[in-house]
Amino acid sequence: MSAFQTETVLSVQHWTDSLFSFTATRDPGFRFQSGQFAMIGLEVDGRPLMRAYSMASANHEEELEFFSIKVPDGPLTSRLQKIKEGDRILVGRKATGTLIAGNLLPGKRLLLLSTGTGLAPFASLIKDPEIYENYETIVLAHGCRQVSELAYGERLVEKLRDHEFFGPLVSDKLHYYPSVTREPFRNRGRITDLIASGQLFEDIGQSLLDRDTDRVMMCGSPAMLAELQDMMAERGFSEGNHSTPGHFVIEKAFVER
Ligand code: A2P
Repeated sequence: MSAFQTETVLSVQHWTDSLFSFTATRDPGFRFQSGQFAMIGLEVDGRPLMRAYSMASANHEEELEFFSIKVPDGPLTSRLQKIKEGDRILVGRKATGTLIAGNLLPGKRLLLLSTGTGLAPFASLIKDPEIYENYETIVLAHGCRQVSELAYGERLVEKLRDHEFFGPLVSDKLHYYPSVTREPFRNRGRITDLIASGQLFEDIGQSLLDRDTDRVMMCGSPAMLAELQDMMAERGFSEGNHSTPGHFVIEKAFVER
């Protein structure tokens, strides 16, 4: 059996010059936990060209969804950005990753901190009923350079608010906090700074970061992750993994080099 399954592209949406998302068929045998990633790609010159992508769809959804950057010279994304409905993509049969509920100790508030396409695993998690059962409050922070880069996340949260099942859960528990660093916006600044200063919590009417109640998942730029990791360590948060659950877990966004 090949390590990859062939799936069919169902829809493609371009959000900016550098961001797009797409949906594809899902093999009924492909199992994953919301927040995990798999290798996905295209056949190029008879060979699979694969990169790690977080599923932006939840594990209960019938279709797969991915949120991607477009790197002009990127071996995969320069090609992947041209896919259309009906095209074939390859999806690895095995999903993995650390951004899963079981890697965190029980807590009251879940902070999902992301930049750029690091939002993808959290797009999956906020469509999973389990996190609404496990946490009293969920904060989804998404930092980007420009306002236009927030569009995918804004649309996602809007759709959830209108959803028959998720609507009430989202209005009761989810605080969505988009922020922008390089042009005017209602929330300005880096996520790290907004957390350290307490501004983020003040803006959403919530208490400051607290190890006793907060659990944190982070995904995005390596620089942001490094800074957040230091902030967590200073506050006595421990990093969780598959063998030992902790106060926070990390996944880097899979930027093509
Ligand atoms: P900034 O515009 O101040 O660099 P990128 O596109 O480079 O991956 O960045 C995505 C977002 O992450 C940008 O808003 C960027 O802010 C922010 N960012 C970059 N480095 C850090 C960091 N060390 N801590 C927090 N946010 C960061």
